[in-house]
Amino acid sequence: MKILIVGGGGREHALAWKLAQSACAPELIAAPGNAGIAQLARCVPVAADDVDALVGLAVDERCDLTVVGPEVPLTLGLADRIRETGGAVFGPTKDGARLEGSKWFAKEVMERAGVPTARAWRATSREAALAALDATGAPVVVKADGLAAGKGVIIAETHDEAVAAVDDIMTQRQFGDAGATVVIEEFLVGEEASILALTDGERFAPLVVSQDHKRALEGDLGLNTGGMGAYAPAPVVDAAMTEGIIRDVLRPTVETLRAMGIDYRGVLYAGLMLTGDGPKVLEFNCRFGDPETQVVLPLLDGDLAEIMLAVARGELDPSSVRASGRTAACVVMASGGYPGSYAKGKPIDGLGAAGALDGVTVFHAGTALSGESVVTSGGRVLGVTATADELPAALDRAYEAVELITFEGAQYRRDIGHRALARVKTA
Ligand code: AMP
Ligand code: GLY
Repeated sequence: MKILIVGGGGREHALAWKLAQSACAPELIAAPGNAGIAQLARCVPVAADDVDALVGLAVDERCDLTVVGPEVPLTLGLADRIRETGGAVFGPTKDGARLEGSKWFAKEVMERAGVPTARAWRATSREAALAALDATGAPVVVKADGLAAGKGVIIAETHDEAVAAVDDIMTQRQFGDAGATVVIEEFLVGEEASILALTDGERFAPLVVSQDHKRALEGDLGLNTGGMGAYAPAPVVDAAMTEGIIRDVLRPTVETLRAMGIDYRGVLYAGLMLTGDGPKVLEFNCRFGDPETQVVLPLLDGDLAEIMLAVARGELDPSSVRASGRTAACVVMASGGYPGSYAKGKPIDGLGAAGALDGVTVFHAGTALSGESVVTSGGRVLGVTATADELPAALDRAYEAVELITFEGAQYRRDIGHRALARVKTA
């Protein structure tokens, strides 16, 4: 089997790593990939948002399956285009990808499905937005409706901050056209968790619940990032709560998408706030999370190539998706300055020694090859991941590996998993 992986981050390295373990020993191609993915796949210099070139690649290479990592090509209709050529794709078509591409569309689906979520108002003009703010009061959350690389959400503590957020998003167009419409949302309080489910549009299979750390600095302070680390399973979500999320979120969403005529095949990712009134959906994503993938895939007991092909064909057997019962932790090592500006091209040492530790896999995110050596090429550079029977051991092992890796300016959080550890200690 020949598989094309679209993307070149830590998530795609984890996908390539798990796919490479499949019994069918698939031939892997990655577009564009990175230095870590290059050890498992043939990397082709095609950008992950160049839909025409990606369709051409899938056809020319006669790929049996295309696995799409990031959201942008899905919202641009990559899955539709490949399906038109008769190819199999893991990832929803453009209409399904709207679940992530438009926050208001996601709200409409949730309302129709009866999924618990924050109350929200939609505004397409500044006046309408200000009227909504008068109705909500503060604190309140102001969101650009469209895609903004995870940055289009502003939490406003006061009415004045909320008005400034509306002006930044709608008037200044800080996130471009993504801010032509804003969604104003009730502020929810609680701990966050992510649940990712694989679905073929009819059946679905949840993966283990994970938690990521979005802020740059320890203690969940500093700027928002793509994610500085993750762990799974998240002990804050017990078996009964997971059943509730399946019943109240995943099942009705899959059924509603289907009733709307959307043939959704891929990952349904629900970002949740665990409020005093139970779990509520903060957002849906139409793809795997990064770095959640780096912890959920090592805990998947199943053949990922077979599972993904079954999803793409609309033939998912949920019993093929099992949890290993172990735990995983991922610590992201980032370039100095991230999420602001940062230098590239810094040589990375210690990858071999770190990867040789028992249970450790170093997933590459922003890396490139410079001659024989691996150098930094992005903000998030590595996702140092360890699995163990218990979470404290997985975290210790991941940090042991992190300490063996060096590159100039490297920064990482030393408190990944702190909420889970506190819970384990008081249990
Ligand atoms: P989103 O992209 O919608 O998940 O938002 C990014 C982050 O903003 C979330 O992970 C939360 O930390 C925060 N957030 C989003 N919506 C809300 C809300 N309604 N109440 C509180 N925090 C929120
Ligand atoms: N880690 C958050 C995301 O992938 O959206």
